[in-house]
Amino acid sequence: MSPRKQTSSRTGKSPKHSFSVRRARPADREAILEMSKHIWGGHDYMPLVWDRWLAEKKGALLTVTVDGRPVGTSKVSLLAPGEVWLEGLRLHPDHHGLGLSKRIHRATFREAAKLNPRTVRYSTWIGNEASRRIAEKNDFWQIARTGWMWGKIGKLSPVSGRRAAADELDTVVRFVRRSSCYEATNGVAGVGWTFPELTRRRIRHLLSLGRVVVLPRRGAFRAVAMFDIGKIDDDVCLGFIDGPDEDVTVLAKDILRIAADTGRDEASAMLPMGRIADLVHAAGFDEWRPIRAVVYELGARGFSGEDEPFEDVLSRTLRLNESDILDLVTELLVDRAPVGLARENVRDFITRNLIPDTDRQLVGTVEGFFLALRTDTLRSILRGTIEHLHTRHGLAGDALTATDRVVRVRHRGKRLASVRARATSLHLTLGPGFGPCFPPDLKVGASETRFDAGTLDRASGCYESLTLVLTEKSHIKGATRAIDIIMKSAAARR
Ligand SMILES: CC(C)(COP(=O)(O)OP(=O)(O)OC[C@H]1O[C@@H](n2cnc3c(N)ncnc32)[C@H](O)[C@@H]1OP(=O)(O)O)[C@@H](O)C(=O)NCCC(=O)NCCS
Repeated sequence: MSPRKQTSSRTGKSPKHSFSVRRARPADREAILEMSKHIWGGHDYMPLVWDRWLAEKKGALLTVTVDGRPVGTSKVSLLAPGEVWLEGLRLHPDHHGLGLSKRIHRATFREAAKLNPRTVRYSTWIGNEASRRIAEKNDFWQIARTGWMWGKIGKLSPVSGRRAAADELDTVVRFVRRSSCYEATNGVAGVGWTFPELTRRRIRHLLSLGRVVVLPRRGAFRAVAMFDIGKIDDDVCLGFIDGPDEDVTVLAKDILRIAADTGRDEASAMLPMGRIADLVHAAGFDEWRPIRAVVYELGARGFSGEDEPFEDVLSRTLRLNESDILDLVTELLVDRAPVGLARENVRDFITRNLIPDTDRQLVGTVEGFFLALRTDTLRSILRGTIEHLHTRHGLAGDALTATDRVVRVRHRGKRLASVRARATSLHLTLGPGFGPCFPPDLKVGASETRFDAGTLDRASGCYESLTLVLTEKSHIKGATRAIDIIMKSAAARR
């Protein structure tokens, strides 16, 4: 969690060292615990878990070695069938900054894949830049932001809630699924820095251990709290709580009481930031300000885009709706600002600071090409074509690259279009790669339509690619029609 340090040992390191990641062995213990003294100012929990992790039958504890010497670890755990949890990523600071995390990650994923995962998750401190970067580069997306809190047990009143009974499972599950706490964490609940899914099965397990405390109301519940015992600190950890404010406060105090009854002098909580964390903090979990944890999950939830990444779909959607989004955010900020502000100024602020001004980027990207064009007519045709790609199909920003000779447009990782300049015309090439969509009798406004014979699909009689020669402003319509055809074909192939 400590900031990255640029130590001299790093820069002086010879690239010839041999590096490997293998299953951990009992003999690694000493070197790994020595390494762990250099992590987080000596507050690493590795000494508390090494023996248990090594003995675990499911998942894998990996050791990272440099020239055969153990210098790091990575742990793959199975929280429930199909629910893989990554943890214990460590590397001796002498080897930080060499990009070794990539190789550790690859080995970790090979182990994770063996567990037939339905989901892979991990959590980290919000300020752990290396760890967050690794998540973001490897298609993990944040599902929750929580606050880690501790409360000392002082003078306490008796417990107000009661332990829910095993036959109340349905009522508890119903309460949980409708709660804002569940929604805010996307269905996971923290116990320490591990976040298992709050499934029916897990709730049943917690009920059987007497770890669900409720405040009843006529056959239902006003409020519910759930805790578990942390494997690292052996702490009572409050991982779920919800209900009206005053009931949350009551139940949070109950959890401290329960911790006291088990001989502990403090309890922890890992809860969503906002109302819940604020209430629990105020109820006595106030040893420090909540430490923020982020929970990452592999892949974007419920996203079934086959050949287009989640980011691309979303950024295209953002670009397509930029104007509406700008209006909405402007409205919200103007409404909530403590002083009166002019809408247009607020809108400008947003495009400078929050949402990229795609129109501006668009013009910037093709500027060299645009200026190199010989006539105003060609400039108008270019503008019309590019604007259509942006406003109708959301293709702008990273999708567009340009030199002063050619503009290229990519879609779903493939080249969709290119525009080349001649002295008195623009040549717009569309496809191939998005399906045979141009019938041979296609008539679009252009001074010439050249089908690419090599892309003829005999079954449909259509071509995957064509080039339009554009010389007049009226040809913008032809260009936009051909673009619509190929985009429709691309969408149909998803
Ligand atoms: C996590 C850890 C194993 C990563 O190893 P590392 O050698 O520092 O990582 P790498 O050099 O491979 O860098 C990984 C990425 O993070 C980036 N990064 C690392 N430190 C960063 C920082 N302080 N700020 C921004 N980016 C940072 C790197 O640039 C790299 O991204 P890139 O490939 O796009 O350039 C190591 O930092 C470590 O042991 N930290 C202490 C224990 C820990 O925090 N474990 C994770 C617990 S969840």
